[in-house]
Amino acid sequence: MKEVIKIEGGRRLKGEVTISGSKNATVALIPAAVLANEPVTILGVPEISDVRSLSEILRILNVDVREEGDMLRIDPTKMRNVDLEQDVVTKLRASYYFMGALLGKYGHVRIKMPGGCYLGPRPIDLHIKGFEALGAVVEYERGGYTIHAEELTGAKIFLDIASVGATINIMMAAAYADGRTTIENAAREPEIIDVATLLNKMGANVKGAGTNVITIDGVRNLNGCVHEIIPDRIEAGTFVIMAAACADEMKISNIIPKHIEALTSKLEEMGVNMEIGIDSIIVRNSGPLHAIDVTTKPYPGFATDLQQPLTALLTQAQGVSHVTDTVYSERFKHCVELQRMGAEIEISKGSSTITGPRKLYGDKVTATDLRCGASMIIAGLLAEGTTEIHDTYHIDRGYDDIDGKLKKLGAVIYREKIED
Ligand code: EPU
Repeated sequence: MKEVIKIEGGRRLKGEVTISGSKNATVALIPAAVLANEPVTILGVPEISDVRSLSEILRILNVDVREEGDMLRIDPTKMRNVDLEQDVVTKLRASYYFMGALLGKYGHVRIKMPGGCYLGPRPIDLHIKGFEALGAVVEYERGGYTIHAEELTGAKIFLDIASVGATINIMMAAAYADGRTTIENAAREPEIIDVATLLNKMGANVKGAGTNVITIDGVRNLNGCVHEIIPDRIEAGTFVIMAAACADEMKISNIIPKHIEALTSKLEEMGVNMEIGIDSIIVRNSGPLHAIDVTTKPYPGFATDLQQPLTALLTQAQGVSHVTDTVYSERFKHCVELQRMGAEIEISKGSSTITGPRKLYGDKVTATDLRCGASMIIAGLLAEGTTEIHDTYHIDRGYDDIDGKLKKLGAVIYREKIED
């Protein structure tokens, strides 16, 4: 038996939705917490399967993990640096943050290759380049990495690409290193600032997070602290797009509107009616939507993670839209699923061309990756008839109670077990 999500389309949504803590911050904050020598409490933790997988890895490392509501208390005082070769490591991408965290704390890590959504090739050469610059020796054998350093020494590291993962991993590996590490062409995503904030609360000395030059001055001890995660800008963006697609009026609360400015400015161009507040956005029934061109870029550019949900909305816009993904040139599997539902989309390497508006019809579709899943939900809400979404586990990796939130807004969405 396997689970599918079913959506009966064509309902108008109305009401308020509260956005959860950021998935991509959480999955870095949890590994970062083990760098401390005392308990760390994280507040606002989303209920998603990636967090459950990371908690499982913490338990393998003999870290005491306690959950209470949206609070996670991580106590690494009895931690052991065991090899991470269990299957759970390959369930998600973020398990690679244990490379930086364990290397930083113990000077040694053995870990299987991480998994995660398939978005085309996702090399980790820049992470490795960073570890090597700090003095580590990296070996790849039997599907995993062994990274070892007698001593970690601060270094100047230039990232060829402003990689989120490499920036965070190097910050963690350098937290205890001797002297100053400088990351040039560092990624500037809000999640990086959140990780730096946690590290600094723990007693680290990280400066410049949020700019493209970050310095880390190594310290001798990291202590416990309490930290609240920033709101999830991708979940926020997903709901703003959903509202533009089918809400009479929707308030999206607990957000930092600045984090999704690249999206809201594009939605304004499309003609979406929005009232942007301090920590919320209200979207009201918009008139006809106009086609637009979008190119994804690292933050503060348009997020690649929102390109897929936006494409579902673009099927309803008047004219021809172009979406170019410069971060992941193969992140277009959702287009094939949207075509099945009636969308007119041409896919070429690194881009898609969407002609609209086109009526969508419910069909059997697959969430080929997390944000493709979000795209399918938006298409399902817009479509005539019932949409059946397969491989729901991708959606559950990153969206906290998406069905519950949508039900409250008036959507008809439910799960069913079906024969394999
Ligand atoms: N890259 C390299 N070498 C590296 C690292 C990255 O060539 O060593 C390339 C990648 O292949 C990609 C680009 O650099 O083309 C950017 O990758 P980045 O390292 O920034 O991505 P990531 O850290 O693997 C995070 C998010 C993704 C999000 C990207 C881009 C997490 C756990 N994942 O991935 O989130 O798409 O940044 O913003 O934080 C999602 O949430 O659905 C998701 C996939």
